[in-house]
Amino acid sequence: MEQGRERFSGRYGFLLAAVGSAVGLGNMWRFSYLAAENGGASFVLLYLFFTLVIGLPVLLAEMTLGRGSGRGPIGALVHYGGPRWRIFGWITVVAGALILSYYSVIAGWTLRYTTIGVASGFAGDAGARFDAVSSGGGAVGWHLGFMATTIALVAGGVKKGIERTATALMPLLFLIVLGLALYAATLPGASAGYRAYLAPRLTDLWHLPVIVDAAGQAFFSLSLGMGAMLTFASYLERDHDLPREALVIALSDFGVAFLAGLVVFPVIYALGLQGDVGESTVGALFITLPHAFDAMGGAGRLVGTLFFAALVLGALTSAISLLEVAVASAIDTGISRRRATLVLGAMIAALGVLPALSLDWLGRMDTIAGNVLLVGGGLVIALFTTFVARDAESDMAVGAPRAARFVPLWRFALRFLAPPLLFFVLLYALGIPALF
Ligand code: TRP
Repeated sequence: MEQGRERFSGRYGFLLAAVGSAVGLGNMWRFSYLAAENGGASFVLLYLFFTLVIGLPVLLAEMTLGRGSGRGPIGALVHYGGPRWRIFGWITVVAGALILSYYSVIAGWTLRYTTIGVASGFAGDAGARFDAVSSGGGAVGWHLGFMATTIALVAGGVKKGIERTATALMPLLFLIVLGLALYAATLPGASAGYRAYLAPRLTDLWHLPVIVDAAGQAFFSLSLGMGAMLTFASYLERDHDLPREALVIALSDFGVAFLAGLVVFPVIYALGLQGDVGESTVGALFITLPHAFDAMGGAGRLVGTLFFAALVLGALTSAISLLEVAVASAIDTGISRRRATLVLGAMIAALGVLPALSLDWLGRMDTIAGNVLLVGGGLVIALFTTFVARDAESDMAVGAPRAARFVPLWRFALRFLAPPLLFFVLLYALGIPALF
């Protein structure tokens, strides 16, 4: 392992950064609209199932490759598989850049909505407001502002930038979402929301699009498939119990998504707005929720502002991890952190102008990245770890004698559970089933 490599200060620094990566727009915005669109509880159950059955083993694979090699994704694949694998490392880095470019655009909207909440509240035509926020120079400007913040924090380094930000923001985010969920429970009419969210219709469990969305969401939400968790684990010492850390990360991530659902569903049902959510995908929550906040009266402004502030916090710690993948790969080749962050960050910011100006592009990029690149990346990582990387099993168990017990289960999941499921999701996302 390389000597001068940066490190997290310890277990909690790593865990907070990793949970910070996982918890983001995916947990609140993407999860809620997918759950609303896919019949609530059935989707939630499938999402939990995929988190445990494919998310967890692939997360453990990424962490093993990162810690074992002490490199970003390109270096890690070469370390374990030889130079032929370099190209796959590159693909993960490009996927991360692509995701960050539009992720930052949505983060810019949340930033804008937070300031709207503070400055004036959410009265007025919610649809017109979303159109204004999500188009034109304003959308570009807030996206660039968000990218600039991300760049500044990543330039600070692993301990002073990434870890410190996560340590400050994640507990705050959790408290806000918890407080909002408790508040939502007091709304008259909340019970209809809970019913939609928590009572599964079992027939939906076999509904193909629901299954595919749930699997894709498990991957997106855990930041898997493009080396983000791999990169963070490359800043770990060898004395960590990786299966235990992976479980903590996966359950925290699920927990925050679940909690966010306990905010969104009661709020929307209490105000009778459930009909509005299914219509447009990307924008649904940005229209329906402010509408609901407005209808709540005085408390709504505070609730709404806090909700969007929590989204901003989550988005920032996730964006940091996305940028760090590319930055780490550049640093591995000898470029300074400062320079790598500035140059790569500026390129990604420029790429984001496209989705900032066009919702169509944004939706397209989310589908390509979320359902194709991440799932394909996860498939490669699962197969690579179990069939190509010879020392992966022993490297996984380093540092924790108990971890060795999980090797057979892990191997089974990486060979027989994750690949067929991911392969199927990939085919489906590429539209292959439509051919039959
Ligand atoms: N997981 C984050 C979320 O839920 C987004 C994210 C951060 C991500 N890093 C990633 C998604 C890497 C895919 C890959 O919002």
